[in-house]
Amino acid sequence: MSDILRRGRLASVPDEEIINFTSSMNADKWIFKADILVDLAHTIMLKERKIIKTEDCKKILKGLLTIKEEGIEKLDHTYEDIHISLESRLIDMVGEDTGGRMHSGRSRNDEVATCIRLTLRNDLLLLMEDLIALRNTLNDISSENLDTLMPGFTHLQHAQPTTLAHHLTAHANAIGRDLERTRDCYKRVNLSPLGAAAFASTGFDLDRERTCKLLGFDGLIENSMDAVSSRDFLIESAAVFANLMINLSKMAEEIVIWSTSEFAFIELDDRYASTSSIMPQKKNPDTAELLRGKSGVAIGSLMSLLAICKALPLSYNRDLQEATPNIMRSLEITRASVRIMNGMMATMSINKENMAGLATAGFTTATELADTMVRVCDIPFRTAHQIVGVLARGNGEPTLGEIDAVAHNVIGESLSSRGLTEEMVEEALDPVLNVSKRSVIGGPSPDSMKLLIKSSRERIAND
Ligand code: ARG
Repeated sequence: MSDILRRGRLASVPDEEIINFTSSMNADKWIFKADILVDLAHTIMLKERKIIKTEDCKKILKGLLTIKEEGIEKLDHTYEDIHISLESRLIDMVGEDTGGRMHSGRSRNDEVATCIRLTLRNDLLLLMEDLIALRNTLNDISSENLDTLMPGFTHLQHAQPTTLAHHLTAHANAIGRDLERTRDCYKRVNLSPLGAAAFASTGFDLDRERTCKLLGFDGLIENSMDAVSSRDFLIESAAVFANLMINLSKMAEEIVIWSTSEFAFIELDDRYASTSSIMPQKKNPDTAELLRGKSGVAIGSLMSLLAICKALPLSYNRDLQEATPNIMRSLEITRASVRIMNGMMATMSINKENMAGLATAGFTTATELADTMVRVCDIPFRTAHQIVGVLARGNGEPTLGEIDAVAHNVIGESLSSRGLTEEMVEEALDPVLNVSKRSVIGGPSPDSMKLLIKSSRERIAND
């Protein structure tokens, strides 16, 4: 059969280079199943509206189901897109007098927008499941490490003692927001453009509500011009993915750093590591590095989508075809990354001794010491900050004698004369007490963390 699109208006055929340049067949593999569903729903509605006969409807539906069974491989890949390839195959199977009626009141413009939304909707649901699994893993590891001390960092410098639970629930919270953003974006994805036809809708008496319902959409993109031309749902989705990938890249970066001999906080399970072709001893965290790298691709996909859609006049423009591979790529990377991160986290071994050993390195208890001075000696925090700052110039944690000496220089009197005791200093320098005192909502104390994990689990259960 000749190309059902080109046999009318166009006289010459494109050469291979032009076909490759203009075809979307590669990216359209992603929407093959959705296209069958869209065809089925449209055909059923055409029959219900008596636009096609019951007999033709039956044959078309049967043909479509056979095409679905045969799979995309059976389709002719030389067509410019999946829609035409599929329609041609149908016409080959059931004849043009029947198959040629399926496209009544429809354009590839509303068809492709519907297919993309259907496919993306499904992938968003799967992504949400993966995100919930990752969040559960982070919560599980956190519950087991409520008391696992480690240094907390700012500027990647030791800052204050904290716990692994506090650190990982921070990531879990971020993943929770990614989940919310995904769910929120789902609402704007799950709307039906079908029935908009090329852009001006159609004179056929279509039932847009019916195809919307048949395909499980929550509502319509009403304006038919908007329906075929808008891809802001793709930009929004890609932004959600990029944001999520940035969150994952931060975790990946820490996995890389924590796996070094200098930190040795964790060791990845061998299946997530690679080795060197020359250095036999190497165990490299390549999977985490790749995840970090792939976040760049997700950011790139968002940038591409923004640039493709910018300044396009209404309504449909073929530029939009270039949007599809970008969302596909970003989605594929994002979903895989969430699963890989989950696996890496769930299987890594945690070196609690090394973490705890470094919890106080770099005088991380300095803030608590200054806070103690404020509470006990009734001096302003800024003064305590200065005294402890001077003490921090020395090596290691100060004794009461050293504190008094510096206090004399700064305020002209000792802090022991203002009630500070050896025991209080010891307490301030104790990392376990540092952590347990930080019991405000969201602080690292085991009790605060238990509450945080509990509410996170409750939210997951309600999701
Ligand atoms: N492959 C096209 C796309 O992805 C389908 C729509 C083509 N429409 C058209 N009028 N040429 O956007």
